[in-house]
This record gives sequence, C-alpha cells and structure tokens, in this order.
Amino acid sequence: SDPALVQRARRAKAALGDRLFVLGHHYQRDEVIQFADVTGDSFKLAREAAARPDAEFVVFCGVHFMAESADILTGDHQKVVLPDLAAGCSMADMATFDQVEECWEVLEDAGIAGVTVPVTYMNSSADIKAFCGRNGGAVCTSSNAKRALTWAFEQGEKVLFLPDQHLGRNTAVLELGLSLSDCVVYNPHRPNGGLTEAQLRDAKIILWKGHCSVHGRFTAESVDDVRERVPGVNVLVHPECRHEVVTKADYVGSTEYIIKRLQEAPAGSSWAIGTELNLVKRLATMFPDKNVSFLDKTVCYCSTMNRIDLPHLVWALESLAAGTLVNQITVDEDTTHWAKVALDRMLALP
Ligand code: 13P
Ligand code: SF4
Repeated sequence: SDPALVQRARRAKAALGDRLFVLGHHYQRDEVIQFADVTGDSFKLAREAAARPDAEFVVFCGVHFMAESADILTGDHQKVVLPDLAAGCSMADMATFDQVEECWEVLEDAGIAGVTVPVTYMNSSADIKAFCGRNGGAVCTSSNAKRALTWAFEQGEKVLFLPDQHLGRNTAVLELGLSLSDCVVYNPHRPNGGLTEAQLRDAKIILWKGHCSVHGRFTAESVDDVRERVPGVNVLVHPECRHEVVTKADYVGSTEYIIKRLQEAPAGSSWAIGTELNLVKRLATMFPDKNVSFLDKTVCYCSTMNRIDLPHLVWALESLAAGTLVNQITVDEDTTHWAKVALDRMLALP
C-alpha cells in the first residue's frame, strides 16, 4: 500500500487517540486491517463493539449491516462510521422488511405463524433484526447458528430462517440432524413464496431464498478437483457455502474458526479454504509452513468488503480528526430497541 497514505492513517489515528476505536472484519484488505484495534468474525465484532464505551468514534471496517449492529450495541454518545457507505452486502439485500412482513402474513394464513420462531443471520438489515425481536426471535452468526437454532426450536415448533438458505440448511441438517425434507425454501419473488400451505405446515424450517454470491461460487467439483490435485488436503469451508460443498468438506466454520483451525494445524499440512480471498491470502502469509490454497480455481473477493480501502479509511480518519463527522451509520430508536432484543438473545446464548 501507498506509504504516504499509511503515514497519514497513522497520524490521524494517533491524533484521535482514545476517542477512536477501529474494528475490522477478517475479509478486509491488508492495507486496512493493519489499522484495526480488534479484528474478528461477525460475532466477535458484535461483542467487541461495546467494549470501549469511552470511544467517541467507532470506525467499522466491514459492511453496512455490521456497522448498523455496532450502532445498536453501542451507547448513544458513540458514533459509528463506515468509511464507504457503498459497502453493503448482496446477501443482506436479498431480504427487505416488506418482503419479510409479507412472508409472515403467508405463515399467518397457513396457521403456522404462532408456532414459528424467526431467526435472522447477522447479515441482514437492522429492521429485519427488529422484526425478529418483535416476534420472539433472535439473531445468529455463523459461529453460533447451531446454538441459536437449538434455542429457537425450544421456543417453537418451526423456524423461519433469514436470509441465507445455505447457513440455515447446513446448520439444520448437519448440526441439528434434521432431514433435507424438513426444509423448504421461501422465494420472496413468487406468490406465497412458491409454497403450498401443506408444504409450509409440513416443514420444520422455512429457509429464505438468499445466498452469498462469493461463497456460492464454490461447487462440489471444486472440492473433488482439489482432492485430486493435492493429496491429503484438508478442505475447510465457511457455512455460507452450498450444502453439497459443506457436506464434502472436512471442516466448516466462521472466519474466526477458520483462522483457529489453521493456527492449530501441523506444519506441512495442506489446506484448501472455501471463503473470501483477502482472508485466504492472509492465511497463506501467516502460515508459510502450511500449504494454504483457495478452494476454487477462479479466485474471488467480496467486492463490497473491498470497497473499504486505504484512501477511504484515511479520508474518514482525517475528517474525524479535523472535527467533521462523516459517514455516520444510525439506526432509529424503535428499530434499535427491537433489534437489540434479538441481538441480546443471541449474546445470551449458552
Ligand atoms: P463470519 O465472519 O461471521 O464468519 O461471517 C462471514 C461473512 O460473510 C461476513 O459477511
Ligand atoms: Fe455479504 Fe457474502 Fe460479502 Fe459476506 S462475503 S459481506 S455474505 S456478500
């Protein structure tokens, strides 16, 4: 990265001192993550967001839904800043509040809303988290989806899982022992989600038809190919990958888990990783004694995570240091209240 920009980021950060707290998701670029005070997966970052109540500014190097969650979980006096407002998440965009309300009406018409617990993946807008809070549900991340779903099935007979069908299916089938036929997919673009009332009544888990385009690129063939090319390779993937990929993999877990697995791996072992490229490249650098490769032949970054680059970070930090608040992410009071109910249910999971 440009040494002049690195210098400017350092200077602005030093000028802000304890007034500033920088959080960085593992998918961030190297040039950005070097300035994070704390790095983590979505769960760790949600927990850490409130860790510095004295910091006036929480600069979130990640995507929009993460910054929203940080705003919900931090005090009113703290301001959350996203260095580029265009850093969204295509998966989170696959479920809008209106669509989710409409889906709930479909469940009401089928007579099952009263026994259904809505659970949303962290990768969703604040108003969907609030919807879950209002309706007895919770938030989950990839590192606690099993515990969140177990909890949800203690509260009700059925679960509506938003918006990542893959995380929902992988957790329900591979972790909770449900069968594939217990899962149905609700398509918000079809009348009644494309489902009959009988299908809805028979299902144990209703999966929203959303997915991550980055993790969706890995296929069962990617796993077969790498096993052929690299004898003894360990295949380690994120649970946002398709069901057939996760089924074929040796290990599955959140970004924090992926890093831990690599840390504990013996020298000389081979690893094919099915997750975002910035993280895989960093792992290859961090563990030169292990053979780390990307699971697919064609490599892929998360384009929205990558929008947070060093020029945007420098601009945000220098603006704050100069007394100009830029790119603040705020969630209104009512949404904050109910989204926090859903987030707190997650944070209280055993
Ligand atoms: P985790 O860091 O929680 O594993 O999530 C990955 C992700 O896709 C964030 O957008
Ligand atoms: Fe969203 Fe996928 Fe990017 Fe994560 S990797 S922020 S789920 S698009």
